[in-house]
Amino acid sequence: MSLVEGKISSEELMEMENKYGAHNYHPLPVVLSKGKGVYVWDVEGKRYYDFLSAYSAVNQGHSHPKIVQAMIDQVQTLALTSRAFYNDVLGLYEKKITSFFGFDKVLPMNSGAEAVETAIKLCRRWAYEKKGIAENVATIIVCDGNFHGRTTTIISFSNDPDSRINYGPYTPGFVSIPYGDASALEEVLKNNKNIAGFLVEPIQGEAGVMVPEEGFLAKAKTLCEQHNVLFIADEIQTGIARTGKLLAVNYENVTPDILILGKALSGGVYPVSAVLANDDIMLVIKPGQHGSTFGGNPIAAKVAIAALEVVEDEKLAENAYRLGELFRKEMNRIIEKTDLLVKVRGKGLLNAIIVNDTPESSTAWDLCVKLAENGLLAKPTHGNIIRFAPPLVMTEEQLMECVAIIEKTILG
Ligand SMILES: Cc1ncc(COP(=O)(O)O)c(C=O)c1O
Repeated sequence: MSLVEGKISSEELMEMENKYGAHNYHPLPVVLSKGKGVYVWDVEGKRYYDFLSAYSAVNQGHSHPKIVQAMIDQVQTLALTSRAFYNDVLGLYEKKITSFFGFDKVLPMNSGAEAVETAIKLCRRWAYEKKGIAENVATIIVCDGNFHGRTTTIISFSNDPDSRINYGPYTPGFVSIPYGDASALEEVLKNNKNIAGFLVEPIQGEAGVMVPEEGFLAKAKTLCEQHNVLFIADEIQTGIARTGKLLAVNYENVTPDILILGKALSGGVYPVSAVLANDDIMLVIKPGQHGSTFGGNPIAAKVAIAALEVVEDEKLAENAYRLGELFRKEMNRIIEKTDLLVKVRGKGLLNAIIVNDTPESSTAWDLCVKLAENGLLAKPTHGNIIRFAPPLVMTEEQLMECVAIIEKTILG
């Protein structure tokens, strides 16, 4: 019997992952075998609401028919050429994404971390070639609590011990400020002539949906302009309608100098990431100076066009905004009835509830296990925080059903 044909139980499948896979994740004990829209099913056929959306990669819902069709059509026609040659889809995608987000140019990559690496390289090159910073001393300001991916350079400026410890030696050239602290940013900018860029998540997703004080992003952008420093927005998690606007920086009318996108850029069916910038920045990278075998391949290009069209056609930003307001209102109603929760925070459909226990406790994990038993999948982050991020194609009726599941689970 072939492994894929046979009916294997959840227990056996978990055992297999545990035995043959590296132990770099700690999944909830649920084995999924199907997804459609806002739902996923486990191998025993139990249906769940997906309240993680693959860390916001599935904003358009699981297996969106338009995105799946685009992928099937393209994979049957032309899958990969490398960038050694032109292909007949990439230009169309580049035109679509640049006009969608209002930039001159895009540099296509695959994973989020690769796009962040690309943005760092682009920023440094701009600093040497345009700003005139002396060789090898360009510095990028980042924020405490950041999460930008898992490469060696990126974890070099993380202050999360799990991400960082024993992976040294670390890449130099980064300085960290407290998240949301415009005065700290100003201090560094005033005192260091070698600053090339400020890399920031408009909301820190992995840190536990940390929302900066209103006005921080706009202030930071102004400070960057004053000091001729590039404002680099990592919207890999917050972008593509997740927070109730197309981009989270739109709340403060900020236009980044470099915009980084990933995850939902493909509707979750394929790894697609992108770095966007205007010509004065992007054209510092010349042929042969950066690249990726799969970046900008025809499948990625076709899938991303479809994924962006779905965001537009189905008004996902507006839906996320409206349902987000409702969700936080309902969570606040539940919080008033219990000592188990401290608060809810977030924007659009990127939210988190804070559990009234220490980050070391298992309370949030236990709650997620109970939520799963009751038909809703969510995952703790940083111990006592539970992130709630359903697909943006959710209806109000479905959202209220989820609120009922959460209420039943919390209030027992
Ligand atoms: C803000 C942010 N940047 C970068 C990444 C890394 O993306 P990837 O896992 O695709 O490398 C993530 C992933 O969670 C993210 O949330």
